[in-house]
Amino acid sequence: MPWNPSQYHQFQQDRFAPFEDLFALIKVREGLRIVDLGCGTGELTGRLADRLPQSAVLGIDSSAEMLQRAREQEHEGLRFQLGSIQEVEGNWDLVFSHAAIHWIDDHRSLVPRLLSLVSPNGQLAVQLPSNHTHPTHKLIIDIAGEEPFRSALKGWNRPSPVLEINEYAELLHANGATEITVFEKVYPSLLENSDAMAEWTKGSTLVPYFERLPENLHEPFMARYRERLRSLFSDASVLYTFRRTLFAASR
Ligand SMILES: C[S@@+](CC[C@H](N)C(=O)[O-])C[C@H]1O[C@@H](n2cnc3c(N)ncnc32)[C@H](O)[C@@H]1O
Repeated sequence: MPWNPSQYHQFQQDRFAPFEDLFALIKVREGLRIVDLGCGTGELTGRLADRLPQSAVLGIDSSAEMLQRAREQEHEGLRFQLGSIQEVEGNWDLVFSHAAIHWIDDHRSLVPRLLSLVSPNGQLAVQLPSNHTHPTHKLIIDIAGEEPFRSALKGWNRPSPVLEINEYAELLHANGATEITVFEKVYPSLLENSDAMAEWTKGSTLVPYFERLPENLHEPFMARYRERLRSLFSDASVLYTFRRTLFAASR
């Protein structure tokens, strides 16, 4: 998918806010072998390397655009590699993922697979957006189903694969995990107006839609999206209440 790191980082501080909650779930030990799945531009991968003593951290991402930025930060103990999350192999002391696995379908098979990458006494720590019931996300599905976008997309749409939080706990338990923590949290961001919400999802949720839509329909899509958001939210500052699921477990 053609990610645009600059668009994504317009809201960098807000997007990085869950990192601290996720990091708090990690059992810090020396010399951890860590993989960061869907590392993007690598800043959080770098934070892991900085905060976990003597660790060897590998960031994996399928976007060449995102990885190009990540690679600028490489140093001993911090490496990046182009690849897909589904194809990662090996045994890791910490399998980490921040805002990435919601791009992959079928979490009932994905979560056991991620857990299988964790070495004995190791940990899995994941954060994923679960904001799919918010109007910013529901409107994308609605508008993609309207003309002229529907025909241009050949009816394609992307329903969320994200499960209820109890299902993540059940999946982890059923696959042998211990010390299971799962919670959902709202991360509120005060934005200038509802147009800013549209800019936010343009850098993330909308990426696969714009990959499939011809360029001459990008702005018309955004115009309709902004108009619908304006009808729901005030044109003064808006509180964007962004839901995220966090889970961690040991093996
Ligand atoms: C929203 S960004 C998050 C990046 C980073 N972890 C962060 O929190 O800033 C999601 C990243 O997941 C990557 N991604 C999505 N699906 C992937 C897959 N199947 N395999 C590898 N990377 C994937 C995208 O390329 C993108 O860089």
